[in-house]
Amino acid sequence: MNTIESLSELRSVVKAWKLSGLIVGFVPTMGNLHAGHLSLVELAKQRCDKVVVSVFVNPMQFGPDEDFDSYPRTFQADSEKLASLSVDVLYVPSVAEMYPNGLEQSVVSVPPALTGLLEGASRPSHFDGVSTIVCKLFNMVQADVSVFGKKDYQQLRVIQQMVQDLNIPIEVVAAPIVRDVDGLALSSRNQYLSKTERAIAPKLSVVLQDIALAIESGNQSFTVLTDVATQRLLDEGFDLVDYIQVCDSITLQAAESASQSLVILAVARLGNARLLDNREVEL
Ligand code: PAF
Repeated sequence: MNTIESLSELRSVVKAWKLSGLIVGFVPTMGNLHAGHLSLVELAKQRCDKVVVSVFVNPMQFGPDEDFDSYPRTFQADSEKLASLSVDVLYVPSVAEMYPNGLEQSVVSVPPALTGLLEGASRPSHFDGVSTIVCKLFNMVQADVSVFGKKDYQQLRVIQQMVQDLNIPIEVVAAPIVRDVDGLALSSRNQYLSKTERAIAPKLSVVLQDIALAIESGNQSFTVLTDVATQRLLDEGFDLVDYIQVCDSITLQAAESASQSLVILAVARLGNARLLDNREVEL
């Protein structure tokens, strides 16, 4: 595995691959890699001849009170995991190379219909930070295919919308959520959970599964279902439920009937962890 820090070196490596007609895949990450990330890499490897993975903790997508400084940085372990999967290039740009003029730079902004709700409602500039860094990375790597996890479902939709709106020549592949044996969706932030909280955390996936089953059996009282689920989580020991909402899987607007393709999106807080999860419902 070739670990590259400079953009010019990355460009010359990828250019040589493309001149040889090779298909290039790209997986952007913020590091602290777990089996969920590695599943994205595996998918990219299946689809492409060469795979680039980036590790960059992007300051632009963290709010002032969020965990940018304490976000786990585990470069050595990440590098070993990626090397064991025979990733071709690990791209680790510095903040100075990524943002030479600081964060006061051009921003890619996907319309608020998709970015102003759910995660965007409580994290106002988060998706501008995500779409800007992903657009920059797409321009830097120039891959043919990129892989994003469905765990960050709204992020996936934002990237798909950006690629469509800006005619970015890259295919976005959506990868399924990877879960622990007890159903908890894997996340770098799960390590913020204490032992007791870790035992409670899988209830989030259980209530989502129960809502999905109810909808599949014909229940269309979405608000009742999500209110009951919210109360169940609080009774189980969650500190706060930011939202549980049944949404249209494309627009992410609140769904009105089960005749749509749906996704149930949820965020709940347990101790210092803010847990995201979702379930798709295809009828
Ligand atoms: O999902 C993430 O890890 C980040 O939001 C991403 C896509 C790497 C952009 O920084």
